[in-house]
Amino acid sequence: MKKYLTTLLVLAMITGLASCSKTQQTEITENDPTETGPSETTEKAQDGDTKMLVLYFSRTGEQYGVGVIEKGNTAIVAEIITDLTGADLYEIVPAEDNYPTTYKELTDVAKKEQNENARPAYADTLPDLSDYSVIFIGAPVWWGDWPMIMYTFFENEDLSNRTLIPFCTHAGSGLSGFDRKLAAACPDSKVLDGLAIVGADAQNKPESIRDMISEWISGLDY
Ligand SMILES: Cc1cc2nc3c(=O)[nH]c(=O)nc-3n(C[C@H](O)[C@H](O)[C@H](O)COP(=O)(O)O)c2cc1C
Repeated sequence: MKKYLTTLLVLAMITGLASCSKTQQTEITENDPTETGPSETTEKAQDGDTKMLVLYFSRTGEQYGVGVIEKGNTAIVAEIITDLTGADLYEIVPAEDNYPTTYKELTDVAKKEQNENARPAYADTLPDLSDYSVIFIGAPVWWGDWPMIMYTFFENEDLSNRTLIPFCTHAGSGLSGFDRKLAAACPDSKVLDGLAIVGADAQNKPESIRDMISEWISGLDY
């Protein structure tokens, strides 16, 4: 009988211990995910081996379907990517910013740049790109393509042997071949699947685009 009771007690203790540790683990997961290992998104976070950069071009002023905006649509997406990954953030700005702040005029200037295959200069304030092995690169779709200033960047900078991840905002055209065009411009890099976000959603649906961006990052192989 004594042996039977002892066995029961030991069993009760084991069960009790097991449920304790389970409860504790659940609490830590809920309250502080970093204590129990990375979540789906933070698993993709920057660490010592993989230094990451989010680099983008974006415009404020009057934009399609959103009126006059103080933060560009692509800038909003770029900041969310940074927030989710811990990557550094850099905005490509024109060396001389003569872009109009009204939509119609901006589309005319952009069309002219595209027709002339122009290479508008950007400000010479880039971080040292050799520090980064993974670079997210984003811009608005302009006339079905990357803005020409981005081609200046692709051609001027050494982006070889990196993982490049394109993203865009747009008003209906989707990714518009950003990934294919980036791969053609940077043949010595690996280009991963891109993400296209509707510009108005960046302004008006921050929670839903955050979910989309998070899901996209989770599926990226870097
Ligand atoms: C010059 C110009 C050209 C555009 N061309 C396209 C286009 O071809 N397809 C499209 O879906 N949206 C187009 N748009 C809409 C922008 O891609 C969209 O509003 C984008 O979210 C703007 O991002 P930003 O605020 O970061 O500059 C164009 C906008 C501008 C200003």
